[in-house]
Amino acid sequence: MVARESTFLAACRGENSGHIPIWIMRQAGRYLEDYRKVREKVSFAELCHSPELIAEVVRQPVHRFALDAAILFSDILTMLVPMGADVTFPDGGPQIGNPIQSPTDVDRLVEIDATRDLPFVLNGLREIKKILPDTPLIGFVGSPFTLACYLIEGKGSKHFDKAKQFFHMYPDAGDRLIDLLKRNLTHYLKAQIDAGAEVVQIFESWGGVLSHDDFARLSAAPVNEVFSGLKATDAPRVYFINNVAPYMDLVRDVDCDVVGIDYRVDIAAATEALPGKAIQGNLDPAVLFGSKEGVATKARKIIEAMPDHTRFIFNLGHGIQPRTPVDNVEVLVNTVHEYQR
Ligand code: CP3
Repeated sequence: MVARESTFLAACRGENSGHIPIWIMRQAGRYLEDYRKVREKVSFAELCHSPELIAEVVRQPVHRFALDAAILFSDILTMLVPMGADVTFPDGGPQIGNPIQSPTDVDRLVEIDATRDLPFVLNGLREIKKILPDTPLIGFVGSPFTLACYLIEGKGSKHFDKAKQFFHMYPDAGDRLIDLLKRNLTHYLKAQIDAGAEVVQIFESWGGVLSHDDFARLSAAPVNEVFSGLKATDAPRVYFINNVAPYMDLVRDVDCDVVGIDYRVDIAAATEALPGKAIQGNLDPAVLFGSKEGVATKARKIIEAMPDHTRFIFNLGHGIQPRTPVDNVEVLVNTVHEYQR
């Protein structure tokens, strides 16, 4: 069981009166020497398939920086493999060997059964709970649209033009794709909660390329349905949107507990636009490449701008970058933990 006094869980519910909690998106990874040591011995895919190694790389940043939450080590694309996608992780970013090119390609994708298809993830969560019993554990998935971006484009992209075009060329197949992803994501997140995840986050990494109208159709509506399907579990639900500013009115109406905001938006404006929701964010990951004083000053600036600390979780506005100086991460965490209003 998680310690009752977790400030992270309290903040997710808008009830925190202790120190400001902090965790860091992509907190396990290549900027850490201990992670690189593990990766010298195994590939990324092997690491994601080993519950023991998953637990070890999850533990590393939590212990090193005294972070307030742990996040499952896996990838948003892992779920696409049992759906029928040929996913690999070569250097330079993930690749899908059989991208969706036509409506028939959508119909060859299948429903998953997490216990049968992704036991290494669920066992990874159980293993993490064994070695970090008192740290709240976050499970996660990619949003339907972000996953569709990779399924259609076949790799990362700046604007995901091909994916956007697909949804307009083939609206019915597009709806079928979002619908299948929605069902699989709801099922997979429930399985993660059953295996020990206490909080769940949906990464909307690429929805920020959409028009307001398409964001309503392809992100806010399906994410709302996934989260509504999890309400009975009682696990706080976090909706992270990279480039949230254009869609505040839509995000406000999504049934979630926490909104993760990127670094482009003013945190006070976001807090005002999202009444009743906890706010997670929003330091620019690039700040961590500056001086220690700069890191501390910019972190305090966000804390002071944030009007309501009862519903505040400090984080970066997007994932931490590979060559980030580790000492600066320590300065960041200490600055947040030591802050007194
Ligand atoms: O602590 C953690 O958060 C680690 C777990 C995690 C990973 N990927 C591990 C990973 C999480 C939460 C993710 C999410 C993820 N993966 C997202 C959403 C978050 C975001 O950044 O917007 C996306 C878009 C992906 C897809 C993906 N996977 C990319 C673009 C890449 C290559 C670029 C990169 O960031 O390294 C991956 C591979 C990947 N996923 C690595 C890690 C640690 C690097 C693998 C390695 O070389 O060790």
